[in-house]
Amino acid sequence: MTPPVLRRALLLAGLALAYSAQASKPLVMGFSQVGAESEWRTANTASVKSAAQAAGIQLKFADAQQKQENQVKAIRSFIAQKVDVIAFSPVVESGFETVLREAKAAKIPVILTDRAVKVSDPSLYVTFIGSDFVEEGRKAARWVLDQAKDGRALNIAELQGTVGSAPAIDRKKGFEEVLKANTKLQIIRSQSGEFTRAKGKEVMEAFLKVKDGKKIDLLYAHNDDMAIGAIQAIEEAGLKPGKDILVVSIDGVRGAFEAMKAGKLNVTVECNPLLGPQLMQLAKDVVAGKAVPKRVTVEEGVYTADQAAAELPKRKY
Ligand code: AHR
Repeated sequence: MTPPVLRRALLLAGLALAYSAQASKPLVMGFSQVGAESEWRTANTASVKSAAQAAGIQLKFADAQQKQENQVKAIRSFIAQKVDVIAFSPVVESGFETVLREAKAAKIPVILTDRAVKVSDPSLYVTFIGSDFVEEGRKAARWVLDQAKDGRALNIAELQGTVGSAPAIDRKKGFEEVLKANTKLQIIRSQSGEFTRAKGKEVMEAFLKVKDGKKIDLLYAHNDDMAIGAIQAIEEAGLKPGKDILVVSIDGVRGAFEAMKAGKLNVTVECNPLLGPQLMQLAKDVVAGKAVPKRVTVEEGVYTADQAAAELPKRKY
């Protein structure tokens, strides 16, 4: 028979072992990404993956390939796997209520990253970290207003992002809100280019072929990738992007700075994709039961073509 003192010592040692195993167990995050549609998204994915590694967080990464149904499936699978926290960048704003209720019922906290969702109950997610897309649209329009200070009229073509996504809805809203100040600035064509270069080019080609006697003076693209695709279409139509057609877009990726340096893009409004480190810190705080702000925004700037050469070497994405 084991003497009581020895039994107690063994019990304590066992408890200490169990405690330290628990303490060193890495936090597990299920992350559902929109896809790989743009240069911005590639940088965002890289930021999330490297920040998780640096923070010692085990990341279960799922690519939704721009499809909401894939995202819902991924979230359900994270719930089934009992991850500690779920983070996702929603493909579109609506239609997540049911799966978010399932996560809440399973007591798994949800962090929204980059894009928001529309839900009737805000307690379905703990916090949302990402840019202010409405303000980005306003910034783009302020630059346009500035170009028309001399009283000239401008016909504007708009390449919208993914239909139903927060950045497409908000960037349109912010842009139109500021543009109203000058009735000589009119959006004459507007269609989705799905945030991709290929679709941006295709839609711009179609815009340029419309025979209604209206010349496009300026292109507003909801992201740099669509602008870069459209720039190709403009060139192939024998026009000079940045001159014959002014081009303003959003993101501030390296490709945009290269296009600005070449004089083909006039301005890009920054949208910072490097959300990984802040996301991991939020996840740790949420899982530890600490209070976190409901909305975390990001500092961003506006860059014009004359700044491109100096800024390009400093860009991180
Ligand atoms: O949600 C952020 C937007 O999504 C970026 O502007 C765009 O490039 C991406 O696809």
